Amino acid sequence: MQKIAIVGAGRVGETAAQIIAEQDLCRELVLIDIRKDVPQGVALDIYQTAPLFRFDTLVTGSNTPSSMRNADLIIITAGFPRKPGMSRSDVLEANLAIIDPICDEMLEHAPDAMVLVVSNPVDVLTYRVWQRTGWPRERVFGQAGVLDASRMAAFIAMETGFSSRDITTIVLGGHGDSMVPLSRYCTVNGVPVAHFIEEEKLRQIIQRTREGGAEILSLRGNSSAYDAPGAAIAAMVEAIARNRSRVLPCVAILNGEYGASNVAMGVPAVLNQQGLFQVIELPLSADENADFQRSTSAVGEDLAKLPAV
Ligand code: 2OP
Repeated sequence: MQKIAIVGAGRVGETAAQIIAEQDLCRELVLIDIRKDVPQGVALDIYQTAPLFRFDTLVTGSNTPSSMRNADLIIITAGFPRKPGMSRSDVLEANLAIIDPICDEMLEHAPDAMVLVVSNPVDVLTYRVWQRTGWPRERVFGQAGVLDASRMAAFIAMETGFSSRDITTIVLGGHGDSMVPLSRYCTVNGVPVAHFIEEEKLRQIIQRTREGGAEILSLRGNSSAYDAPGAAIAAMVEAIARNRSRVLPCVAILNGEYGASNVAMGVPAVLNQQGLFQVIELPLSADENADFQRSTSAVGEDLAKLPAV
């Protein structure tokens, strides 16, 4: 990939940028932020690690949206984070006012880009970007499930003591209290996780995963999570940049899959150089399907609040 633009040089954008640069996933990485001098400072700090990590991606910062010109991929992390006690939906109105102008800048300066939405509420804002840009769903997707699945895998590793490398988890649905971790599909190197963890403990892990973002926010006090979110973004970018066709949970615009249309939801999807290449439809049990439909309704309530484009 030649050029990646990250809009929003806050902690999540910065962490993602550092990992993307370290992995040399593009030749040019620009961090764009409206705060004077801040993206320049962040970019310089990251670029000064290049000789240490031995990467040669050029990292720059800018206050000018046109710096995204000709980016192959735009990652949107800009927006207000929630404060303790707030839900992700509570920042919808404020972040919508930030997302709409970014869409217009993308249409003007990088009309062929792919866009990875990270700002919250991520399902609703991914939908908004798709709606406002009019781009095909292959080029508009969001990050939530890679983070949620990683959180769940970490909790399973903590509970079992097994290597986190062997743990595979899948999380569907919206990035919020209604997310649907699919424990049936979670394994330790192919062995269903239920073989190692009793039902009640697994239920607690699922609940802790749902509240994973709030737990970090409450512990850190003055910041949402950013290490794991940054790494989750980088994992998606790596799948695209290296054309890996990885199956990762992504926020995707659904077009009849899982019985839902005209909504953005977390589902497993294939990510490669064409972007969100394919949505994978898993057979769900009656209970899982009911949870998924509940999650769709919760996201749908926020979608109904969106003003006309
Ligand atoms: C999280 O789950 C902030 O949504 C983000 O940590």
